[in-house]
Amino acid sequence: MNVLIIGSGGREYSIGLALSQDEKVDKIYFAPGNGATAKIGENISYESYDSLIESAKEKMIDLTIVGPEAPLVDGVVDRFKAAGLKIFGPSQAASQLEGSKVFMKNFLKKYEIPTARYIETDNIDEASQFIDSLSTPIVVKADGLCAGKGVIIAQSHEEAKEAAKGMLSGESFGDAGKRVIVEEFLDGYELSVFAICDGEEYKLLPAAQDHKRLLDGDQGPNTGGMGAYAPTPLIDEALYRAIEEEVVKPTLKGMQAEGMPYEGVLFMGLMIVDSKVKVLEYNVRFGDPECEILMPLIRSSVFELFDKGASGKLNELDIEISEQKCVGVVMASQDYPYKSSKPAEIIVDEIVDPHLREHCHISYAGVSEIDGKIFATGGRVLVCVGLGESIQEARDRAYELAAHVHFMGKQCRMDIAYQALS
Ligand SMILES: Nc1ncnc2c1ncn2[C@@H]1O[C@H](COP(=O)(O)OP(=O)(O)O)[C@@H](O)[C@H]1O
Ligand SMILES: [Mg+2]
Repeated sequence: MNVLIIGSGGREYSIGLALSQDEKVDKIYFAPGNGATAKIGENISYESYDSLIESAKEKMIDLTIVGPEAPLVDGVVDRFKAAGLKIFGPSQAASQLEGSKVFMKNFLKKYEIPTARYIETDNIDEASQFIDSLSTPIVVKADGLCAGKGVIIAQSHEEAKEAAKGMLSGESFGDAGKRVIVEEFLDGYELSVFAICDGEEYKLLPAAQDHKRLLDGDQGPNTGGMGAYAPTPLIDEALYRAIEEEVVKPTLKGMQAEGMPYEGVLFMGLMIVDSKVKVLEYNVRFGDPECEILMPLIRSSVFELFDKGASGKLNELDIEISEQKCVGVVMASQDYPYKSSKPAEIIVDEIVDPHLREHCHISYAGVSEIDGKIFATGGRVLVCVGLGESIQEARDRAYELAAHVHFMGKQCRMDIAYQALS
């Protein structure tokens, strides 16, 4: 089988890496891919979705998998399907679950899926009135995609009103902020849970925890994610069941009822408050770096999982999840997340210990190939992934691997998975 992966990050690299070890897969293409994906497959550049569809036909692609949200929200899945190509991901309509927070919150309310109390509005007076009725902190969210910057946790009523004003005027985020959500602050711990969905059926993957802040101890600015681990011990069987019954099932039923059955990766951003689950948001694709630590935990065929997901046949499939734990440590470039850094050559020392070699690998993200060498050219450069019988062992291996990786100005957090170890 020939597979095309749309995207260029560590997430897409890790999907490709898993597929490259799958005996059902002959050839992997990445569009556009990065400097390292060309080592496990072939990179294709494209100018428009139409030209990408032409390439997919030419290269006889059997299945396309979409990594990032932007092409999904643009309707890439609808276009591929209309051209008679098999593709795994949600339709443009279903992608509103991520593309519009107003759509998402109204959906949650309509189908009685637990979430923070909120209003949606395009009116500053209405927003202010609701802000006054809440106690601080207060959460203000822009409706549309804002690259992870559209959520303000305001510490005072004034700050919340200022944030809402900035959004509604179009000043802060343009059209993406023309409607806002104002909601109560939920005090608990966050989890990411991923379900592979085919419109009707789903397969749940182990719950993961991400680390959004740049610095140890969850300090510093927000980033795309500095590391992740799975499965997290913060979740027990009962909570897992509750997530299925109170979130996954009603979401799939609701999307069917809306006439937009959900096919693709459903990423549930959850807050656990007093052992009760609440939905913060959905994303319509894998998280990055969560994908990098979940792929290695899937024992059964990853190709089949996506292929059956794209064909409405997940009911035919039993997936096997490894008993192992996985930890991923992101290595970022010198000035991340403030500005881009000078390209820096990446040197990886040979790993002598065969045991370590077998239980760790690198997932490459912001890298380019220049004259046969790999250079760090993006913000988040690569993820050091370690596997083990325990979180501690997996983490030790990820950090041992990290010690083998060198480039000018490299930075990483030293406390990934601390919640699982404290
Ligand atoms: N109601 C809330 N209560 C507490 N924290 C929240 C709330 N909503 C969002 N957050 C925090 O803000 C982060 C970003 O919000 P989210 O809804 O995931 O938006 P996005 O990922 O699109 O920026 C969350 O990961 C969470 O830490
Ligand atoms: Mg989020």
